[in-house]
Amino acid sequence: MKYLFGLALLLVLAAGGVMGGVVALRWTDNMTATVKIVPGERVLPMPAGTLPRTGGELTPPRESRDIAAKRPNPVKATPESITTGKALFTIYCAPCHGPAGKGDGTVSPKFIPPPDVTNATLQKQRTDGFWQHVIGTGGAVMPAYGEALSPEERWHLVNYLRSIAQK
Ligand code: HEC
Repeated sequence: MKYLFGLALLLVLAAGGVMGGVVALRWTDNMTATVKIVPGERVLPMPAGTLPRTGGELTPPRESRDIAAKRPNPVKATPESITTGKALFTIYCAPCHGPAGKGDGTVSPKFIPPPDVTNATLQKQRTDGFWQHVIGTGGAVMPAYGEALSPEERWHLVNYLRSIAQK
């Protein structure tokens, strides 16, 4: 009887040991140890005959707003740029932001009201790169316009927004 108990105990311990071993093996031999492509590890060439959709300018992802904010504005704020920006603003932005950017568009009472983008404090807080990135990739609730507007058009919009800043 004593031996039988010892044998049973040994069996249970052995089974536990095997199970523990299996768990340990699964733990170390997991998916991270398989073949993978690490972002940035290699640069894939553009397929032949294709063009970058965004006009050659790389748009940092939405999460990288701090990096995007540091980009300088490559488009000079000429009267033409501001006129183009204003035209685009009237088409795409005025429904929410209002015809003069005051946040009083016809949609805003039914949506989260946007800020007054002419506000001097907000204008000082934000860089051109930050706003160009918000327009392209969207804000907390504001939709993204990267699909509809080229990077250059978004810089024109920023130039227009700067031109309507309150003094
Ligand atoms: C559907 C409504 C809507 C439309 C259309 C819209 N916006 Fe906005 N926008 C918002 C709202 C709401 C906010 C504030 C909350 C947020 O950042 O998402 C905002 C914020 C902003 C800001 C301030 C971001 C900041 O925090 O400094 C800018 C600049 C801006 N929008 C520009 C534009 C431009 C330019 C367009 C047109 C291409 C546009 N918006 C179209 C709703 C809209």
